[in-house]
Amino acid sequence: MRKAFLIFTACGLLFAQMNEKEQNIIREIALQSHKEYAHVLRNALKTKLQKEGEAKAIEYCYNNANALTMDTSAKLSRKLKVRIKLKRVSFKNRNPYNYPNLNEYKILKRMEKEKTDENYLIMAEYPRKIQTFQALYVKKVCLKCHGSNLKDTVRKTLKKYYSHDKAINYKEGDFRGAIVVTIDKKSLKKHLNKLSQNQ
Ligand code: HEC
Repeated sequence: MRKAFLIFTACGLLFAQMNEKEQNIIREIALQSHKEYAHVLRNALKTKLQKEGEAKAIEYCYNNANALTMDTSAKLSRKLKVRIKLKRVSFKNRNPYNYPNLNEYKILKRMEKEKTDENYLIMAEYPRKIQTFQALYVKKVCLKCHGSNLKDTVRKTLKKYYSHDKAINYKEGDFRGAIVVTIDKKSLKKHLNKLSQNQ
C-alpha cells in the first residue's frame, strides 16, 4: 500500500493539531491495521475456497467472519497499544450488521463517486474517534459469491444464511464497500503521551 493519506473531514481536529511525528504514528497504526485485516480476510477466503468450494466457504463466513474480525481487532489493539475496531461496510450488504451509519454512508458515497484508489486511505475525525476508510472493488474471484451468474449451490447457501442479502449482481470493477478502521482517541492520546515521556 502506498503511503498516501487524504484528510476528508475533521470534526475533532486532534490530527491537525499534532506534530508531524505524531501524525506519522497514526498513519502507521492505520496502515498496519488495514494491511493485517485485509491479509486475514484474503487468507481465510482463499484457503476455504480452494479446499472446500464456495458453499462451504459461505458457511464458514457466516459462522466465523464476525469472530475473525473481533479477534483481529483485539490482536491489533494489543500489538499497537491503541484501541482499534475493524469492520467492513457496504450499502449493498450481505450481513445486516455491515450497513454503514450515516457518516460512514456519506463517505462511502463519495468514495464510490470519486472512484477512490484502493491504495489510499480516507480519514475522518470525530470527537472520540478517528476512522480510516479503504475502498474495496469487485475482482473476478468475488463474482463467485457476489456476481449475477451464481451456481445453484451458491444461491441456495446464500438464501439459507442471508435472507436479506443485497450483495449480489455486482460486476468486476464495481465499488463494493470499504474496510473501516476505528481508532479510539482516548487510548491514542495515552499512547502518544507515553511515547513522548519515554523520549
Ligand atoms: C465464497 C463466497 C465469497 C467470495 C468469493 C467473496 N465473498 Fe464477500 N462475502 C461473502 C459472505 C458470506 C459475506 C458475509 C460475511 C458476514 O456474515 O459478515 C461477505 C461479505 C462481504 C463484505 C462485507 C459487507 C457485506 O456485504 O456484508 C464485503 C465488503 C465483501 N464480502 C467483499 C468481497 C470481495 C471484495 C470479494 C473478492 C475479493 C469477496 N467479497 C469474495 C462471501 C464471499
